[in-house]
Amino acid sequence: MTPLVVLTAVVAAVILHLLWPFLVGRGGAYSTSSARAAEWAFRRIGVAGRRVYDLGCGYGVVLALARKMGAVPLGVEIDPIRWLICSLRCGCRVILGDMFQVSLADADVVYIFQWPSVNARLAEKFLRELRPGAYVVSYMWEVPRLKLVAYNPSLKVYIYQVV
Ligand SMILES: C[S@@+](CC[C@H](N)C(=O)[O-])C[C@H]1O[C@@H](n2cnc3c(N)ncnc32)[C@H](O)[C@@H]1O
Repeated sequence: MTPLVVLTAVVAAVILHLLWPFLVGRGGAYSTSSARAAEWAFRRIGVAGRRVYDLGCGYGVVLALARKMGAVPLGVEIDPIRWLICSLRCGCRVILGDMFQVSLADADVVYIFQWPSVNARLAEKFLRELRPGAYVVSYMWEVPRLKLVAYNPSLKVYIYQVV
């Protein structure tokens, strides 16, 4: 095998690793939130002592922050490599699986960084499962049908509350 073939295979594997949840229609591809945006939202809500879920938690940037701020974090991640790294990094419960299959009944705050079409599907789940008063924080994209309580345009972060 020539070095070029090996390099091409490695690059293709990395790209697939990052994109596959999106390519198979399960959720957003991998990218990372701005920690400043998540911190702004968490300070505004006040997450200490609250159960904070990150649906599609990636490598755990947001969960690690939530934990540092005194929250009780829980992650859900569909990709096994990201799940493993996040579990080792965050020292909290991280479920390996599909966020659409995980109950949100006891969540106080749900954090998402997904994709507009995925947010629309998640909105149905939030309205069905979250208790009134629970918050949803969405980085980058709006979530339809929820009550917007705060938006930071420079950090591109939306805070919603279930009524
Ligand atoms: C844009 S990244 C966000 C990562 C992290 N939450 C952050 O804000 O930095 C989206 C993550 O969602 C995961 N994902 C996509 N669809 C999913 C699903 N149905 N269930 C669980 N995780 C999913 C992807 O593997 C990816 O790690």
